[in-house]
Amino acid sequence: MRWGLLVAALLAAGCGGATSAADFGEELFQDARLSESGFNRFSCATCHATTATPEADRILSGYSLHNSAFRPSWWGGYEARLLDAVNFCYVSFMRGVSPLTPADPKARALYEYLVQLSPDREAPALPLTVVKDIEDVPRGSTSRGAAVYRAACQTCHGETDTGIGRLTELASILPAVFNDYDRLFPGVPKQLVVIEKVRHGQFFGVGGNMPLYSREALSDEDLGALLAFLGL
Ligand code: HEC
Ligand code: HEC
Repeated sequence: MRWGLLVAALLAAGCGGATSAADFGEELFQDARLSESGFNRFSCATCHATTATPEADRILSGYSLHNSAFRPSWWGGYEARLLDAVNFCYVSFMRGVSPLTPADPKARALYEYLVQLSPDREAPALPLTVVKDIEDVPRGSTSRGAAVYRAACQTCHGETDTGIGRLTELASILPAVFNDYDRLFPGVPKQLVVIEKVRHGQFFGVGGNMPLYSREALSDEDLGALLAFLGL
């Protein structure tokens, strides 16, 4: 359904109670078309689970949004308002043209959905350790690395060497793309380019819209195994 129609349906339902707004919010949460950008393929659900305990087979860059609505702060203390925390993702990762405003029915519906996911009104803020200075990490086993790749990278990048199943053609095929790095980043060891990208995401000099992985999201041990699997 198109947003216009959804909004119309919502209004027809008498602007509904919290339930219908939350249902609309859940649909928005799972749909990449929340962002008007024709280049965006990410929905909130691409990077955030909504379950109380983490899903065993997925390593996501963002935290589960279970109990997220009433945390005292977000993004490791960088954001003091929930809508700002959401807009950070919406603009940086989903290429949203301008931040959602508090009066926007889509922002309201997302808010009602996050509230529905948040039975604990006293839930604490969560830590977010962004690795500042990039350093190499010890390599781990390639079999663990293969599992990390499947859980963390494959949704967006697809299978290694072929890219089969990737979410967007903007996500390069790994590890083939590393062959260009000697030319693009002369003098920088390839593994450091990859660690930089994973740890800082779009904020790496070359831009883009990949999310960053904090240490809480992806440990150095898992990163080291992943590098071994990717032949670095
Ligand atoms: C491409 C990945 C990605 C997408 C898409 C994305 N986020 Fe995020 N989000 C992150 C990352 C990474 C963080 C920082 C880690 C964290 O705090 O969860 C984050 C943080 C957040 C936080 C703060 C959580 C906290 O307690 O620190 C909220 C709330 C949030 N996102 C909501 C959303 C919503 C709602 C959407 C859809 C409109 C969305 N995000 C889309 C990756 C993403
Ligand atoms: C939410 C989707 C998403 C996830 C998950 C993701 N990536 Fe990406 N990645 C992208 C997109 C889109 C690009 C291209 C745009 C950019 O550079 O940000 C990219 C670019 C890259 C690049 C740079 C490629 C180039 O062209 O030079 C590297 C390296 C990379 N990703 C590695 C990884 C690794 C390793 C993982 C798993 C830990 C991962 N990515 C997880 C979406 C994602």
